[in-house]
Amino acid sequence: MNLASFPNVLLDRAAELMHRELGLRPDPSLLSRLQRCLRDEAAARREGLERYVGRLAVDPEARQSLYDRLTVQETAFFRHPGQFQALAERVLPGIDGPAVIWSAACSNGQEPYSLAMVLDEQAVPGSVIATDVSTRALGRTSEGSYRSRELTGLSPARRDRYLTGDSGDDWEIRKVLRDRVKVQHHNLIADPLPDHVERCHAVFCRNVLIYFSPEHVTAFLTRLAQKLPPGACLFLGYAETIWQVTDLFEPIRIGDAFEYHRRRDSPRSSVRRPGPPPLEARAVRPPPRAPLVVRRPPGASALEQAGQATTAGDHQAAIGAFRRHAYLEPDQPIAHLQLGLALEAAGDWPSAQRAYRAARSALGRCDASSVQSALGGYRVEELIRLLDGKQDGGPP
Ligand SMILES: C[S@@+](CC[C@H](N)C(=O)[O-])C[C@H]1O[C@@H](n2cnc3c(N)ncnc32)[C@H](O)[C@@H]1O
Repeated sequence: MNLASFPNVLLDRAAELMHRELGLRPDPSLLSRLQRCLRDEAAARREGLERYVGRLAVDPEARQSLYDRLTVQETAFFRHPGQFQALAERVLPGIDGPAVIWSAACSNGQEPYSLAMVLDEQAVPGSVIATDVSTRALGRTSEGSYRSRELTGLSPARRDRYLTGDSGDDWEIRKVLRDRVKVQHHNLIADPLPDHVERCHAVFCRNVLIYFSPEHVTAFLTRLAQKLPPGACLFLGYAETIWQVTDLFEPIRIGDAFEYHRRRDSPRSSVRRPGPPPLEARAVRPPPRAPLVVRRPPGASALEQAGQATTAGDHQAAIGAFRRHAYLEPDQPIAHLQLGLALEAAGDWPSAQRAYRAARSALGRCDASSVQSALGGYRVEELIRLLDGKQDGGPP
C-alpha cells in the first residue's frame, strides 16, 4: 500500500494505542515510522489494514510483533564512555556486597555486556539485569553473538578478553560474562517496576526516554524514584533530560558525564537543584519555571518559538525555529549548538554534526566573554570540549 493512501483514522487509532502501551511520543517522525510498520506488519500477516489495526487492541501477540518492528535498536558497546568510567570509579567502590545494575531498555545487549565487563574489570561481584520491551532484542542479548560491525566501542583488548571469534566476522560473548547478565522482558510504561529495582545500585536507562511523551517520562521517573534505594544512581542518554522531576533526582557532574541520585529527603521535595543542570539539557529544554537555558540575544522570538515547541515535544517545529535563529545569528555559537542538539534529539545526526561544526567555527569568530555570559555558569572550555566530542564520536 502507498503510504499516501493510508487512512488517517487507522493511524490515529494505532498511535493512541502505542502511546498508551509503549509511551510513544506522537511526533511526525515517529508517526511516519509507525505508519510504515503498520503497513509492513499487515502485509506480512496477509491481513487487511483495518482488520489488523482493530486486532492490535485485543491481541497481545500482534502488539508484541509490532513492538519488535517499531522500536529502534541502535546501540553500541561503551556508548557514552564517561558514564562507564563514572560507574567504575565512583559507584562501584562504594558498594558493599554484590552489585545490582539494571540496564533498562538494553537493546541487543551491548550495554549490559559493557556493564558486565566493568564489573569484571573492577573485580566486583554482582550482576546486570537486562530488560527490554522487544523480544527480538532480548533474543539477541541472550544469544550474545555479534558481527564485527556491531563491536563499535569495544577495544581490541576487551574484545579478545571477553569475546571469542573463530571465523573473523562472528563473535560470541564468553560464558564468564554471559553468566553475569540476566535477561527479562519488561515494558517501562505498561509493566510494574521489577522487584530488583529495590536492590539496585545503578540504573542505566539511556536513549529510550527520547521516544516517550513528556507525561510518560515523568510518570516513569516518579515511579522509579519511589522504588530506588536512596543513593542509587541513574544514568540517562546525553540527549535526555529530567527537567520535570529534578525535585526527585539530583544531577551530579562527573567529568563529562552526569549521574542522577535519588534525593534522600523525600520523593517529592521542593529542594532546589544545587548545581547547574547538564549543559546539553540546558540548551535543549528550557526549565519550566526558571529563565530560559541560555540568556537570550537579539532575535529572541525565534528562540521563544523554539522553547515552546521543545516543551510541547514538537521536534520539527523546534528545529525550524532554532534554524531560523541560527540563520539570524550566524556568529552566535550557542545558536548553532541549540540547533545541533535539537537535530540530534530528533535523530538527524549528520545535520546535527554540521550544526556543531558551525558552532565551533563561530566560537573562533566571536568574543569569548559574550559566550561565557550566555552559558550561565559553564566555562567556554567546556563548550569547546562538548563540541569537539561531538565531532569525534558517532551518533549517541
Ligand atoms: C535506542 S535503544 C537504546 C539502547 C541502549 N540503552 C543504549 O543506550 O545504547 C532503545 C531501546 O528501548 C527499547 N524500548 C522502547 N520502548 C520501550 C518500553 N516502553 N519499554 C522498554 N523498552 C523500550 C527498544 O526496544 C530499544 O531496544
